[in-house]
Amino acid sequence: MSNHQRILITGSNGLTGSKLVGLFAGMKGVSVLAVSKSANKIKNSEGYEFEILDITEAKKTEAIIKKFSPTHIINTAAITLTDFCEQEQELCWKVNVTGVENILHAIKNTSVHLIHLSTDLIFDGKKGLYSESDTPSPLSFYGYSKWTAERKIMESSVRYSILRTVLVYGISDTVSRTNFLLMVKENLEKKKKLQVVTDQFRTPTLAEDFIEGIRLVYESGRTGIFHIAGAEYISIFDFAERTADVFGLDKKLLVPVSTEFLKPIAKRPLLGGFTISKAINELKFKPTPLVEGLAIVKKQLFFKSDDMPSAVDVRVSR
Ligand SMILES: NC(=O)c1ccc[n+]([C@@H]2O[C@H](COP(=O)([O-])OP(=O)(O)OC[C@H]3O[C@@H](n4cnc5c(N)ncnc54)[C@H](OP(=O)(O)O)[C@@H]3O)[C@@H](O)[C@H]2O)c1
Repeated sequence: MSNHQRILITGSNGLTGSKLVGLFAGMKGVSVLAVSKSANKIKNSEGYEFEILDITEAKKTEAIIKKFSPTHIINTAAITLTDFCEQEQELCWKVNVTGVENILHAIKNTSVHLIHLSTDLIFDGKKGLYSESDTPSPLSFYGYSKWTAERKIMESSVRYSILRTVLVYGISDTVSRTNFLLMVKENLEKKKKLQVVTDQFRTPTLAEDFIEGIRLVYESGRTGIFHIAGAEYISIFDFAERTADVFGLDKKLLVPVSTEFLKPIAKRPLLGGFTISKAINELKFKPTPLVEGLAIVKKQLFFKSDDMPSAVDVRVSR
């Protein structure tokens, strides 16, 4: 890539968005505009600009995009809580679908490369280890909203890459909502029992690996759909046990249950997860082994208090 690149990152306060800002901010030959619905939560404010943007506001979205004139937009903004989406369908649709339409409208007839993020929850969980050519059939409203947004992008004339991922684990100093790994850790540290499903299978993804997949797509300029995930296909219960092992916590507090027993508000696919051979072959993506990934997060949590090293620091020193 020779010319100066201008990257607009939406949802920059989120787990993925904040790590992307950390990756691209200050990078040579790159200008970054981070936008999110709330005020900037990223501690380090150097190397990028920040503006508040709710992507459901069509006019403001268009104005900010036109003013910044990006070469790339990485859209991480979304309502990502599956059960919340089931209960608040209008809001979920507004952000996950209308927000994407607003971005598409603002960049139509331009050469902007839209890198959009999506999920394995667009699949029905009957097969497992889905590839890019499998047909989505979402069970939940969240999955339906994400699949609809994907279709809107594919039907548009914009230059796009859609990166789907699975059960991302990791931390960031911006995110107040918990993720599965942190939930397991917090409960077991308090010696609380935690019911975990044994019949849902996933390919858990280290947050830094997802970021690396996005970077590889950005660098290569490749378009189309890519599945970015970890390489191990395990039950969510096994994932919880591995987490307990790495963090030295008592895994006997984990209580195995079925999805039927837990009755989540939104339906979940049983056999989820991705095959990632396309990403490995075409992007040279190398997923971090799960136990190593969990150890990286443990190290990040150890350093978190004041001066958390960047993902790259932690990776290099592992
Ligand atoms: N995390 C996972 O396990 C996972 C798995 C599969 C796929 N994905 C996909 O990966 C992407 C990123 O996920 P994530 O976990 O990084 O998300 P996240 O931590 O939940 O962050 C999403 C961010 O979106 C922002 N946002 C929400 N509504 C908005 C709006 N109307 N306008 C602008 N920004 C808005 C929020 O910003 P504020 O904080 O400023 O309000 C929030 O910080 C999503 O597309 C998700 O579907 C994630």
